[in-house]
Amino acid sequence: MPAPIAGSAAPAGRARTLAQVYRHFGAVDAAGTSPLYERVALALSESDEALRAIETVPARKRHPTVVLAALHDLALAGRAPALATAYAAADGAAAAAAAIDTLLRMTDSVVAIAARRPPRANETGRCPVLYPAIADAARRVGAEAVGLIDVGCSAGLNLNVDRVGITYSNGQSLGDLSSPVQMSASIVGGRPVPAQPIPEVVARVGVDRDPVDVTDPDEARWLRACLWPDQPEPAARLEAELALAAAAPPVLLRGDAVEVLPDALASVPADVLPVVITTWALSQFPLESRLRFLHRLDEAATRRAVAWVSVEGVGVAPAIPTFGDRRASGHSIIGVAVFGHSDLRAEGVGRCWSRGSMLAWLAAA
Ligand SMILES: C[S@@+](CC[C@H](N)C(=O)[O-])C[C@H]1O[C@@H](n2cnc3c(N)ncnc32)[C@H](O)[C@@H]1O
Repeated sequence: MPAPIAGSAAPAGRARTLAQVYRHFGAVDAAGTSPLYERVALALSESDEALRAIETVPARKRHPTVVLAALHDLALAGRAPALATAYAAADGAAAAAAAIDTLLRMTDSVVAIAARRPPRANETGRCPVLYPAIADAARRVGAEAVGLIDVGCSAGLNLNVDRVGITYSNGQSLGDLSSPVQMSASIVGGRPVPAQPIPEVVARVGVDRDPVDVTDPDEARWLRACLWPDQPEPAARLEAELALAAAAPPVLLRGDAVEVLPDALASVPADVLPVVITTWALSQFPLESRLRFLHRLDEAATRRAVAWVSVEGVGVAPAIPTFGDRRASGHSIIGVAVFGHSDLRAEGVGRCWSRGSMLAWLAAA
């Protein structure tokens, strides 16, 4: 009998088998969104040989999102041409057959990729939420230049926030409207986002325990592989943002954020405002680390002002007020905090939904 797998939505009291997890992924998670992954996941769930191969992947990496990304990675690398052809043709039957064939022939490669690479979500498109919050933080301090430090940066795509163009549904626009990367977002409610620009950005630093170097072809390919093969729009957005990042890559510091943050802050010139950014990163930190992260910002502020812009689930960012919203409400809170010599001014400035593609600005602009 196949081993049970940890993961989402197990029936109460018993873990689901691999076959059940793959069937659920195909029939529920992928259905309606990715016809290719629906077919492939269901085919894997019905193949005893395929399930046995998946069982050789380390237990925490057996989830369909990881195994399918590993297969997609092989296709993108030219190592699984039949699978690549089936994906390109959006041929579900051929993709299902090729995925099983690739998995059985290249089990060791699938295991190695899945074991080595952390799954990555789609990390594009955060700028419509970040831009006005960073500009607002700089305005509060009167800063004429900022150094951006993205904590939990992954590939550091947020660090190009001032290099993209942004159009909002209320007619406002921000950033560089001639940039090859253009983003849009819907504004909820009647309040505009602040119109001031981000001042000059003189430093761009990414901090992550496992950063992605976008100039490394294998690492960039893994970001592509984590997208589903029949979703051209996210893929095109990722290509554009990767190209922008690769043209002027940020400094990446590898390590635990709490340990590395002092070095990151020290790399920002003394007369420049460091603006630390976190987007959907802090939920991966234990509560104690989140408090130590806050303490680090406070320590750095004995020497100069430090700002922190957060976009995190309700109640995840310590010290950021949440408008009384319930945790796990499905939206996130946009926070702006300024650490001065001995005080902290932290404010919730808005809410956002769908990873920032919809936002409500709530602070006075
Ligand atoms: C969910 S991803 C968010 C990535 C990106 N900020 C975004 O908006 O999509 C969380 C990131 O935080 C990083 N991370 C988790 N714990 C960390 C820690 N203690 N120190 C540094 N980075 C950490 C992970 O490696 C991962 O890249």
